[in-house]
Amino acid sequence: MEKCWICFFLSLTFIIITARAQPAGFVSLDCGGKDNFTDDLGLEWTSDNQFPYGEVANILLANETRKQYMTLRYFPADNKKYCYTLDVKTRTRYLVRASFLYGNFDNSNVYPKFDIAFGATYWSTIVISDASTMEVRELMFLATTPTISVCLSNATTGQPFVSTLELRQFNGSIYYTEHETQFFLSVSARINFGANSEDPVRYPDDPFDRIWVSDSLKKANYLVDVAPGTKKVSTTMPIDVNRDERPPVKVMQTAVVGTNGSLTYRLNLNGFPGFGWAVCYFAEIEDLSPTDSRIFRLVLPNMPEVSKAAVNILENAHGKYQLYEPGYTNISLPFVFSFKFLKATESTRGPLLNAMEINSYLEINLGSLDTTAIIGLVSKYPLANWAHEGGDPCLPVSWSWLRCNSDPQPRITSIFLSGKNLTGNIPSDITNLPGLIELWLDGNSFTGPIPDFTGCTELKIIHLENNHLNGELPSSLMNLENLRELYLQNNMLSGIISSDFLRRNLVLNFTGNINLHIGKRRERNTLGIIIGCSISAVFLLVATIFCCLFMNRVQRRYAEEDEPAAVLPVQRNASLIKGDGASETAYCFSFSEIEEATKTFEKKVGSGGFGVVYYGKLKDGKEIAVKVLTSDSYQGKREFSNEVTLLSRIHHRNLVQFLGYCQDEVKNIESNSILVYEFMHNGTLKEQVCAPLKHEGTISWIKRLEIAEDAAKGIEYLHTGCVPSVVHRDLKSSNILLDKHMRAKVSDFGLSKAEGTNAVSGIVRGTVGYLDPEYYISQQFTEKSDIYSFGVILLELISGKEALSNEGFGIGVRSIVQWAKTHIQSGDIHAIIDPSLNDIYTIQSMWKIAEKAMMCLQPHGVMRPSISEVLKEIQEAILIEKAALTAQEGHSVESISSIRSSVNIGGGSIDLGTIDPPVLIDGSIEQPTPR
Ligand SMILES: *[C@@H]1O[C@H](CO)[C@@H](O)[C@H](O)[C@H]1NC(C)=O
Ligand SMILES: *[C@@H]1O[C@H](CO)[C@@H](O)[C@H](O)[C@H]1NC(C)=O
Ligand SMILES: *[C@@H]1O[C@H](CO)[C@@H](O)[C@H](O)[C@H]1NC(C)=O
Ligand SMILES: *[C@@H]1O[C@H](CO)[C@@H](O)[C@H](O)[C@H]1NC(C)=O
Ligand SMILES: *[C@@H]1O[C@H](CO)[C@@H](O)[C@H](O)[C@H]1NC(C)=O
Ligand SMILES: *[C@@H]1O[C@H](CO)[C@@H](O)[C@H](O)[C@H]1NC(C)=O
Repeated sequence: MEKCWICFFLSLTFIIITARAQPAGFVSLDCGGKDNFTDDLGLEWTSDNQFPYGEVANILLANETRKQYMTLRYFPADNKKYCYTLDVKTRTRYLVRASFLYGNFDNSNVYPKFDIAFGATYWSTIVISDASTMEVRELMFLATTPTISVCLSNATTGQPFVSTLELRQFNGSIYYTEHETQFFLSVSARINFGANSEDPVRYPDDPFDRIWVSDSLKKANYLVDVAPGTKKVSTTMPIDVNRDERPPVKVMQTAVVGTNGSLTYRLNLNGFPGFGWAVCYFAEIEDLSPTDSRIFRLVLPNMPEVSKAAVNILENAHGKYQLYEPGYTNISLPFVFSFKFLKATESTRGPLLNAMEINSYLEINLGSLDTTAIIGLVSKYPLANWAHEGGDPCLPVSWSWLRCNSDPQPRITSIFLSGKNLTGNIPSDITNLPGLIELWLDGNSFTGPIPDFTGCTELKIIHLENNHLNGELPSSLMNLENLRELYLQNNMLSGIISSDFLRRNLVLNFTGNINLHIGKRRERNTLGIIIGCSISAVFLLVATIFCCLFMNRVQRRYAEEDEPAAVLPVQRNASLIKGDGASETAYCFSFSEIEEATKTFEKKVGSGGFGVVYYGKLKDGKEIAVKVLTSDSYQGKREFSNEVTLLSRIHHRNLVQFLGYCQDEVKNIESNSILVYEFMHNGTLKEQVCAPLKHEGTISWIKRLEIAEDAAKGIEYLHTGCVPSVVHRDLKSSNILLDKHMRAKVSDFGLSKAEGTNAVSGIVRGTVGYLDPEYYISQQFTEKSDIYSFGVILLELISGKEALSNEGFGIGVRSIVQWAKTHIQSGDIHAIIDPSLNDIYTIQSMWKIAEKAMMCLQPHGVMRPSISEVLKEIQEAILIEKAALTAQEGHSVESISSIRSSVNIGGGSIDLGTIDPPVLIDGSIEQPTPR
């Protein structure tokens, strides 16, 4: 729904404020400023003088010399909202900071109080309590749309105003949280302990320009309750902070020490009570003698469980001048937060603390459900001021020319666009607002017909008078049951108004339409017309449904460049399977044909839950995989042939092709059901990624992404392209096979059963390690169960590790999910990346996939994305990877392909097809196979 903001705001230039050449991803907006300038820190400030609303003012404060705070922009204290819209890069984390320094700009000494919102989400209430004290609000968010907006509204006293607005782009992600699609992180405290001065540490010491507030700044109600014996310590030695986004070295070089054995502080936490994210940063910066030790515990009132873990910085951080950052990603904290670090009895030194960060979770409001439609509407009027109010159409307050209902995700109920000089047709977007009750479009210059309002069943009042509308009154108007007022006067409408319509309880004014007349009721014909209409309506409806179904199929096919997926009957006596034609149908092989092709089941190439797979070659040279089902797979012939019929209908380039079956009496093997598939030369994804032969290279990251893309397309087809949809029920890396060109196809899907039908002959599906946890509860597979399994496969692609392992994940951890989750949540993606990728990947695409995998692995199916969303993400990651490759050109591209071409594959135990002699693989280029 929000996607459409993209097109709209991208095309909109006059309120989008773009950054100048700053540290990447910095925007510093000097509200009310006249000129652009660079401050002492090297930050480049941009004037907001193109902003169309509000007034500017200058303030004068004795001790404020920073230019950006000496100007501001203020707005009327009305019931509107005023929004700044800023460009961002999607899938990237940012800090947004807004500051407010009143300075008695209006000479009224009435301290303003108003609200700020981030998009549709209430952010904070700004309460000014002093002309010279700056209020600052900071929020960290993951951008999901190309623009964000910050809006001011709801002034209860004074006039809303803003001094600066800043955006700072992060690099990777210590601020990743599991909940980031539902919650923003609102900054409550970011403290530099033991600071050498009252000045905060920020850019350029902190490359992301976070403001690390000095603990020596004695703000009221802030850092009171300092324990006796609390001393500052500092060092000039460099501190190893490991990675970006950890606190800057300068912050870590100072600390406080509780020389009497304890450190105590009390903070007032904005945004609390509630749940939040809290992290302490420690680094040993004092000289400890070999006999010294520093061990301490965190003590929180009423939370004995947090006191259990002891901190021993030297041990936890593996040495001096190293960072250790324990914390809680989801902890409940009060507004007045008292905490204490207490020396352990065995410790010789008191506790030490370098820095601390606390953020509260701010629930994201998804905004109006009508966003898409209304953005479609405003995008047609790029030059009109009313079309650029920004933010959500309904929240926190609606745009000035709209009214919305009070649902949590509001619907638009009224539109007031009278006398706006609008031309052209009435935009059809308006007819996509199902909650619309009142529509005012009078006094414009609209031409063309009145659109079809069938979808707006709630419409009560319509004002279309004084336009240049023509054509007849659409019958849809007559069908609006709630319509009470219809104003059409002074247009160029024509035709007949039925007298039935006039009899309704309706205010109707249609004077000034010369060709519009009241019709006489044609009693005799009414019945005939109604019947005629009904018949044609039924016919039309049926035709439409057929047409839609048909078109849908056709379009899908074209869109995916599918092979023709004709629904073809099973051909019992077809003579031969043609070379590599795409549209083969299920063919009934005779047993002797199978025997001949497999040389009497000579070469076993795999086995799985369903039986054994043999290699075969048909007379015409086509290689096949022959799957002999175990006798208990099917209860009866009928079930088997149902399954075959289903299989023969499913054709997609990313699904292993089903060629035929055989159900003759078979004496020398135990089963009488055989399925024949195309042979896949490069075996399974599992062997390729999780267990590549030693001495050989591995598949590159971009190739892995392409494999994931292929597999996702196959699954997408099962979920959305088949009617009824098919749930795979046993997705795993050993069910993803690779062909000669290393293109991936999903296998074993047919036995998966169409959704909606019941129990497949008691076959238990699913594989431990890939199995949806919800399945244990519901015993039901859904598309979302496949998504869970796919999430596991994505983790395998990232890490090169198997889904389950007794050794690979450290003590007590057996599953890749548990292992990866821990690392990803702590922002440490490097810990899970397959070392054999040799650092040839971009961290952005890696994060993209890791995050999507985490979404896929949500415990509840409803929270997981659809396969199409996952596919989209994979495709974006591929684009990022390709862009990076192009950017590097020459040498690095070569090094990647050299890694690729050294892949070597051997046999193994798999479900379908593997090869005996090793085969060389090179990206998408086919290599001669040495057979
Ligand atoms: C300030 O910089 C912005 C962005 O580069 C530019 O659009 C604008 O014209 C500049 N304003 C002034 C007053 O120079
Ligand atoms: C600025 O001066 C005012 C009084 O004039 C004082 O209350 C305030 O703390 C000062 N601010 C700073 C940052 O020094
Ligand atoms: C406006 O602010 C007042 C006082 O802060 C608050 O009670 C009210 O709920 C706010 N209104 C809206 C629409 O947010
Ligand atoms: C961002 O990350 C890249 C790669 O991890 C690193 O080279 C770069 O220095 C980082 N930028 C900052 C500002 O830390
Ligand atoms: C109405 O729009 C036309 C162009 O479409 C423009 O020339 C005219 O000035 C506008 N009138 C008003 C009152 O905005
Ligand atoms: C209908 O519209 C015309 C023209 O605007 C107006 O003069 C007349 O009073 C209206 N009639 C009613 C019943 O509202």
